[in-house]
Amino acid sequence: MTIFRGTVLDTPGDEVVGTVRLRAQPDAALLVEGGMVTARGAFADVVGGLPSGGHHEVVDLREGLVLPGLVDAHVHYPQVRVLGALGMPLLQWLEECALPEEARLESVDYARGVAAEFVHGLVAAGTTTALVFGSHFAGAVDAFFEAAARAGVRVAAGLVASDRALPRALLTTPDRYYEESLHLARRWHRTGLARYAVTPRFSYSASDALLAACSSVLTDVDGALFTSHVNESNAEVAAVAALFRTADNYVDTYDRHGLVGPHTVLAHNVHTTTPELTLLSARGSAVAHCPSSNAALGSGLFPLRRHVEHGVRVALGSDVGAGTGFSLFKEALQAYLTQRLLGTEGLPLTAPDLLHLATRSGAEALGLGDEVGDLSVGKQFDAVWVRPRRGDPLDVGLRHAASAEDALGRALTLTTPADLGGVWVGGQQVSIVCPSPRASPTTHLARHQRHS
Ligand code: GUN
Ligand code: ZN
Repeated sequence: MTIFRGTVLDTPGDEVVGTVRLRAQPDAALLVEGGMVTARGAFADVVGGLPSGGHHEVVDLREGLVLPGLVDAHVHYPQVRVLGALGMPLLQWLEECALPEEARLESVDYARGVAAEFVHGLVAAGTTTALVFGSHFAGAVDAFFEAAARAGVRVAAGLVASDRALPRALLTTPDRYYEESLHLARRWHRTGLARYAVTPRFSYSASDALLAACSSVLTDVDGALFTSHVNESNAEVAAVAALFRTADNYVDTYDRHGLVGPHTVLAHNVHTTTPELTLLSARGSAVAHCPSSNAALGSGLFPLRRHVEHGVRVALGSDVGAGTGFSLFKEALQAYLTQRLLGTEGLPLTAPDLLHLATRSGAEALGLGDEVGDLSVGKQFDAVWVRPRRGDPLDVGLRHAASAEDALGRALTLTTPADLGGVWVGGQQVSIVCPSPRASPTTHLARHQRHS
């Protein structure tokens, strides 16, 4: 058994975003056995309650803060190498930037390299659980599940499906999609920390026949998730409306195939309508809010208040590579800033609201609310240790914080991946060492000279 000692902040309650309360415990002890938190309390009390003569290890995390592992509800594995493209709206960015890169994953060797970089990006940012958009190629999806299993991170992912509107190499057929999906699900679903997710890219690139095949996979793979994109940009919404003349709205393009339910996470939903919010609420579905992506692509400002007022569950997604990076600290801050920009239409968010969005909201959206999302007794020890470097603004901020909530606000504003001292999944520390060492400046220069 292991005792993790530190200042523990989490949001275990069932409050809705906008009213979340923080649980803050300075000098707390979390007793972890078999990956699970089995006791929690003041350090002296937990240690005092242990049977005498037993062996336990104490991991001292008192410098900084211990938070639950972060949950990314929407992120694309094949896009890690195209992060940072600026100046394009969604459909242009897909055509010029994302899709040409995604076509390269036809090569399993290439995909393996991308998968290792992607998983490293997740873990290094403190993300311990993620709902991941996979690849259009089954071999590349295998490569991803292998990399995730090797790293020991919790993931749900699947084969991405499209049968129109994209480059030919990325297209499939309903029958092929069904067969390849079942094959992948048999190999990966509920093995280790992995689950299968049915992932049509978006209804713009998926015919009704393909969405029907998605529905069959969802029925035949017990416990699979469903995820896709919805109402992201105005141009995309108009294009979908033109393709699905008989659908009530964008959400209905999925719902009429039985794809919208409690196992569903739809990304973006920026340009939503009241009937769609009512439907999502009735179905118990979740929306992945991807604030930095929405800002980078100029998609729009997310109407969080309307989601909350309709009772629609909202989690947070980095949306790498349209988003600006893996860090859910940064996404949480961007979510806060977005609501500020909306003025009176925005929902004022506190630091506890933001922590909930980045942890427990995501765990619930992914159907893992009983296992992860906070650090209560009975939950898995999925955790991140925020340990600022001496003298950095984060360190200064934490040392001068007036309260735990204040400290959390500073952590959410200032933490970068370089400030994480450790990341644990199910009690196991996951390695945050980069898979491919950076070329030294000399090597880089030498290469450059050879090619010029
Ligand atoms: N809609 C369809 N595909 C994508 C994607 O890769 N990224 C984003 N942000 N939106 C999408
Ligand atoms: Zn996306």
